[in-house]
Amino acid sequence: MANDSAVGLHDLSFATTEFVLPHTVLAAEKGVDVGKYHKGIGQWSMSVAAADEDIVTMGAAAAAPIIERHGSDGIRTVIFATESSIDQSKAAGIYVHSLLGLPSATRVVELKQACYGATAALQFAVGLVRRDPAQRVLVIAADVSKYDLDSPGEATQGAAAVAMLVGAGPALVRIEEPSGVYTADVMDFWRPNYRDTALVEGQESIGAYLLAVEGSWKDYTEQGGRALDEFAAFCYHQPFTKMAYKAHRQLLNYCGHAVDEERVGRDLGLTTAYNSVVGNSYTASVYLALAALLDQADDLTGRRIGFLSYGSGSVAEFFAGTVVPGYREHLRTEAHREAIARREPVDYARYRALHEYALPADGGDHRAPAQTTGPYRLAALRGHKRVYETTGGGRGASRPSARTSTAG
Ligand code: HMG
Repeated sequence: MANDSAVGLHDLSFATTEFVLPHTVLAAEKGVDVGKYHKGIGQWSMSVAAADEDIVTMGAAAAAPIIERHGSDGIRTVIFATESSIDQSKAAGIYVHSLLGLPSATRVVELKQACYGATAALQFAVGLVRRDPAQRVLVIAADVSKYDLDSPGEATQGAAAVAMLVGAGPALVRIEEPSGVYTADVMDFWRPNYRDTALVEGQESIGAYLLAVEGSWKDYTEQGGRALDEFAAFCYHQPFTKMAYKAHRQLLNYCGHAVDEERVGRDLGLTTAYNSVVGNSYTASVYLALAALLDQADDLTGRRIGFLSYGSGSVAEFFAGTVVPGYREHLRTEAHREAIARREPVDYARYRALHEYALPADGGDHRAPAQTTGPYRLAALRGHKRVYETTGGGRGASRPSARTSTAG
């Protein structure tokens, strides 16, 4: 574990959507026992994007408080990880760069490998900081998870963005070496370019995830990683929160440990609070698990956290982080709870209309309906160009259009 002492997460902030659909409403609509959602998959509600929200507005909303606190000095790279991209060419991070007023002396790039993309972004960011410790990297993971209406995946949708500032002398979590990595060519979940919604082989995807847990852990130990008992908690990718439980039982089994449910609960219990009410946020999910853990745990100073990042298709990585003394002073617990609590519940008809909504793709001048009370919104689609707007305040503030950006 050489050369890993000083680089990691300096700040972490997340944002989610304007609306929320409770699973009680979904269960009533589908005629399903709500226990299937609450107990079976461990989901209580799902974030639903307003017509004027997307990965850019959520990404900017997550990153803005980080720039407010730390400024942009030293940020020469922005990596935007997503699998719900809004453009086949231009990086979504460029719109965020513009909305946040970041300096032109910045490289901005978008990264994709299903839900794993943000972990690749984080590891690349760590590498850049090791090369020049004066630099900091802004990593943004943002996704809107969308499956077909009335499909089994529908109950696992969600949306959120996590922004992370990666730097030397981190205030929250040091990222350790080594990593265990794993790739297998499987078609468990995918989204062809011509589709808005993902395709998935549900049970196969669960099996592929479990194999990836074994594969990445095996490589982690072969690379000289820590023993299972050295970890205080485990943050898993959570497409639905019960998946983390399946994965951890698999890992315990694989390591020859008895599957003791009390231990499983202890290892994971605090990591599911945000994902269980936000739904699958794809790239952001594993870092939403970290936010929930840090925001709720009594004191994790000096303790080790295991991260298991999985992205269908498939790529996985297991790595460790150590929580830094004084981390609690830098948390954004109140803002995170507010981001979740402030969402407006919608009924099934409104959710369905939002699910089906899309701005016309005819190249005309189309204003997006004004729905979000968030700090950034998609204002229009004009000549095939997306136009974003800063609304002039935080959630619930009035909405003067202070600044617009086509970022191009
Ligand atoms: P399904 O067929 O509707 O549900 O789809 P089920 O019949 O398998 O039931 C789910 C669980 O609820 C089962 O528990 C039932 O027993 C239980 P399990 O056997 O799994 O322990 N159950 C109940 N429990 C209590 N009370 C009840 C009750 N009824 C049933 N009354 C499925 C479930 C997850 C397949 C579906 O939601 C789906 O296709 N989701 C999308 C795919 C997915 O999330 N896959 C996860 C692994 S892949 C991944 O993580 C990557 C991903 O994030 C994408 C990316 O990387 O980009 C998806």
